[in-house]
Amino acid sequence: MSENTSYVELRHINKHYGDFHASKDINIRIPKGKLVALLGPSGSGKTTILRMIAGLEHPDSGEILIDGKVVNDVPGSDRGIGFVFQSYALFRYMTVYDNIAFGLRVKKTPEREIKERVSELMKLIGCEGLEKRYPSQLSGGQRQRVAFARALAPNPQILLLDEPFAAIDAKVRLELRTWLRDMITRIGITSIFVTHDQNEAIEVADEIIVTNLGRVEQTGTPSELYTDPATPFVVRFIGNSIPVKNYDRFQYFEERGKESAAILRPEFISIFKKGENVQYSKSAEEGVVEDIIFRGSNLEIRVRLHGNLLSAIRSINDPDIQVGETVDVFIHRLFVIDGEKVTMKYNQSLREESVII
Ligand SMILES: Nc1ncnc2c1ncn2[C@@H]1O[C@H](COP(=O)(O)OP(=O)(O)OP(=O)(O)O)[C@@H](O)[C@H]1O
Ligand SMILES: [Mg+2]
Repeated sequence: MSENTSYVELRHINKHYGDFHASKDINIRIPKGKLVALLGPSGSGKTTILRMIAGLEHPDSGEILIDGKVVNDVPGSDRGIGFVFQSYALFRYMTVYDNIAFGLRVKKTPEREIKERVSELMKLIGCEGLEKRYPSQLSGGQRQRVAFARALAPNPQILLLDEPFAAIDAKVRLELRTWLRDMITRIGITSIFVTHDQNEAIEVADEIIVTNLGRVEQTGTPSELYTDPATPFVVRFIGNSIPVKNYDRFQYFEERGKESAAILRPEFISIFKKGENVQYSKSAEEGVVEDIIFRGSNLEIRVRLHGNLLSAIRSINDPDIQVGETVDVFIHRLFVIDGEKVTMKYNQSLREESVII
């Protein structure tokens, strides 16, 4: 099977819980060896999708394919899947060793092979020496590593991870993300990772599937979702979005007036002191600085323009700006939302200037 063919595929999957339509015509293709994130708000159906792939839930209609074969009627235990659950990641009453050995014992693997495999996995996850501990005697990060090893023990072809870091504090979570990314790349296992944290998805995944209200809104690489969002939901959900009113009052944007809403991002806005930048100030608009927030490596400048409070980023090396100061605000581009359609619009003066230059 080549790199680009899908290893896991969902075709027109629907799932109801009673009257509730939890998965609506889900179509997903996951290439072999890739790490794909399912990203969406709480209740958007991420766990439901994972549980159907694992055979823990059954779709009402549609097909689930693994390695090109329809597996709807194949029991979960025969699908070659390892699962790291959203909660209750480990068996509390079993040692680390027994937790990792669990799946192998179910498969009646000889004890000598189990010993070798557990020791290999303990080395892989960097937890050697902790075999005899119980889950309560581990740190949160160690527990998740052991859960990862337990899922990998029977050599699955697919690894499913449901918010594996949800209960872990921010700093360890950051370390674990990078760790997981490295592990999965090293093992080369096709993996699906559920999260509702966009930074986690962007950092970890080769590709992101955005879910909302039981549907897939968009599938793409992190940069595709960011630069070319397909739906109003994705524009608002990915990146730092600033909804803009009175879009018709912004200058230098074509087709003004008829669109209903626009979305800006801090990166689309430049703020200059009066006279600081001649090129942009010709086509900038005047705004008043309402707040300046120190963000460590840069400054967030909050500026009022046409009734909107916009956030822009400015380098700490740029000339000093004060609260209350009137500044030049240059909008490079923005997203316009027209019903279900999203279009990126560029400041027209950019085009005019590039012609002159
Ligand atoms: N067994 C069930 N019976 C009835 N409704 C359910 C069941 N499981 C899930 N649901 C509903 O289906 C919807 C999707 O649930 P799911 O667990 O897939 O969401 P999720 O995206 O994983 O959310 P979270 O980020 O909170 O984990 C929710 O509205 C949920 O209440
Ligand atoms: Mg969930």
